[in-house]
Amino acid sequence: MTEPTLEIHLTDDDLTAGLRSDARLGLTSTPKTLPPKWFYDARGSRLFEAITELPEYYPTRTERALLDDVVGEIARIAQAEVLVELGAGSAAKTRLLLNALSAEGPLKTYVPQDVSVSALRDAAAQVAAEFPGLAVHGVVSDFTDTLQNLPRGGRRMVAFLGGTIGNLIPSERAEFLAGIQEVLEPGEQLLLGGGLVIDPSVLVPAYDDAAGVTAEFNRNVLYVLNSRLRADFDPELFRHVALWDPDNEWIEMRLEATRELTATVADLDLTVHFDEGEQMRTEISAKFRIEGLTAELDTAGFGVEHVWTDPQSRFALVLAERR
Ligand code: AVJ
Repeated sequence: MTEPTLEIHLTDDDLTAGLRSDARLGLTSTPKTLPPKWFYDARGSRLFEAITELPEYYPTRTERALLDDVVGEIARIAQAEVLVELGAGSAAKTRLLLNALSAEGPLKTYVPQDVSVSALRDAAAQVAAEFPGLAVHGVVSDFTDTLQNLPRGGRRMVAFLGGTIGNLIPSERAEFLAGIQEVLEPGEQLLLGGGLVIDPSVLVPAYDDAAGVTAEFNRNVLYVLNSRLRADFDPELFRHVALWDPDNEWIEMRLEATRELTATVADLDLTVHFDEGEQMRTEISAKFRIEGLTAELDTAGFGVEHVWTDPQSRFALVLAERR
């Protein structure tokens, strides 16, 4: 086995600096808001893994089953020599892709990207052990701003799975997709997974499960502020809210103060006041329509080659080619 290599474009200090500026801006805005990327410290990543096992949370298992069904077709069309996986995390779906792409022949290199060094190091080591002969090159970076660092040479497919594209608002999505388009050569591919607009009676419970795991995941952002920025939020004073916004067609997660309260963020010299019932937005998870997703890809300079959906049309995988 070849030892995996790791390229670090995002240090712990960069992360803290990013959290500081996001927290200062978000906690002083009206309404208050925090970006979802700060859910994912070690505890938050474990809680997210637990979410993917919940009966209500269909996206992960739906996407995995769909990928399992169509991965051979994807590999045949893509003929990729390099698989770049954005937000690789624990990389459970990666094996399906790597197996199919190596069965097709040309795969030489796997490039997992993630913000978490520890998650990436583990995933890279595991994949390198399982796929001898595959060069594994991890990139620690923020998926929205370090695309320039993707290795060149060899026909590439960039995979962005899990529906994480839904965390971006439309203008951010346009910028993100255009950024990927810019680093790819004509003919190289993007494999995108996105949740589809479905009945809110199925959608909302996926983000508000009976066991309260998503609520704890949501409150985890307060634990992150407490530990990384020496804040003193009492997470138990916040209620988890998940609602479907039918105009924007996204799920919105919020934390609602159950009583009037004040918290301090020592590292920011900041005092934060919440009225009783005040809500802070912590995540959007946009759902898509095939036509909309295709149009967004087209605008960004991609030609859609194929769209696959699961039998219940809850999730889509789109293979698009850089024009
Ligand atoms: C990891 C962004 C795909 O939006 O469904 C799960 C995160 N939030 N439950 C999603 C999440 C609440 C998840 N993504």
